[in-house]
Amino acid sequence: MGHLHNRNIIIGVTGGIAAYKIAELIRLLRGDGAAVRIIMSRGAQAFVTPLTLQSLSGFPVHTELLDETAEMGMGHIELARWADAFIVAPATADALARLAAGRADDLLTTTALATPAPVFVAPAMNQQMWKNAATATNIQRLIDRGVEIIGPSAGEQACGDVGLGRLSEPAQIRAAISAHFPSRALEGRRVVITAGPTREPLDPVRYISNHSSGKMGFALAQAAAEAGAETVLISGPVTLDTPEGVTRVNVDTALQMHEACVQHIKKPTAIFIGSAAVADYRAEVEAPQKIKKVGDTLTLNLTRNPDIITEVARSASRPSLMVGFAAETEHLIDHAEAKRLAKQLDVVIANDVSRADIGFNSDVNMVSWVDSMGHDVIPITTKRNLAKLLIARCIARMPQNCADDEHRATQSEDDS
Ligand code: PMT
Repeated sequence: MGHLHNRNIIIGVTGGIAAYKIAELIRLLRGDGAAVRIIMSRGAQAFVTPLTLQSLSGFPVHTELLDETAEMGMGHIELARWADAFIVAPATADALARLAAGRADDLLTTTALATPAPVFVAPAMNQQMWKNAATATNIQRLIDRGVEIIGPSAGEQACGDVGLGRLSEPAQIRAAISAHFPSRALEGRRVVITAGPTREPLDPVRYISNHSSGKMGFALAQAAAEAGAETVLISGPVTLDTPEGVTRVNVDTALQMHEACVQHIKKPTAIFIGSAAVADYRAEVEAPQKIKKVGDTLTLNLTRNPDIITEVARSASRPSLMVGFAAETEHLIDHAEAKRLAKQLDVVIANDVSRADIGFNSDVNMVSWVDSMGHDVIPITTKRNLAKLLIARCIARMPQNCADDEHRATQSEDDS
């Protein structure tokens, strides 16, 4: 990490029981070298005193919009301009509604509107309030405006309920903010990513496919390119724009994706990420003409497609870090770990695709990182933010001696 050194961060604290966790968040951010200023809503002050957060942040806490002395010093516009990142944590259901509506009737909402900095919200509320359609609509409106969502996490709540609604842990919030300021740690390295579905033709007009939109893989490619990597994105048929600085290779079928992967890992590659939802089977024979309706049933003979990621992992040019995805509907972690071992991967990102709000085609996702050390949950967040987090973790997890070290050395000799 360390991308937060010399960054200015505002934390807007609203009135929830989780407000006490902000003390730890301030400590972590300051430990990374960031300057932290606090805005507290009136409700927040009922849970934690401004004096506590002032002592921890080292700055007076800002509470009032119309405070003459404050406006002469660091008023709301100066605060908004000062920030490199603005995080509302904990964000109550009311705070989300007010931010989504674009209200500007207190210091926190006004600063959120006035800041050019990226805005994050870390929701915390009763699980039923989180599930409410009004909250879901507010979250979607914020996402559509580019606000990053961090969590909430699942677990036991202060009110006794169990479910999604707990404030994400301070370390998770810090990781999300930190990932937003990417290092260029992948400068001179290659990353190859597969994305989207494959289409397996049955006849000239029909095919077998799945619901993958490519959003997860495209976000990963964007994050890898932003971290400086030479990024190759091998994509099945999707309707997304190619992220800046990314080389895109379009394919339709699993066989084509397989061939493209084999070609593109010939050059030494630091990280391979298989986020594509590859069809495991294809038609044994593609009918040359449209299959006609005859009888009440139709039997199709299917044959196995190559397991692309396994072949990449077993090849002589195995990339230094092999990361797969597992889309599961039950026994998430057990199945993901089984896939990690069977496919000889370093990491598997497990997503629960039984939920309609995450996984396939959604703008947000909640996953678990599974590796030889165990697993941990990354709270629900936008796919673009998740991608930054995953790339930051991949960088931290890369082996000391990378397969592409020689390639980098040759490149820098060429450059000199
Ligand atoms: O595209 P989105 O709408 O954003 O959705 C993202 C996603 C849900 C598709 C993505 O996050 C995801 O989970 N991708 C993997 C889905 C999948 O096919 O999982 P699997 O359990 O079948 O495959 C496990 C791993 O093997 C994956 O890395 C997959 O790319 C790879 N695989 C699978 C089959 C095959 N023939 N070749 C492969 O390389």
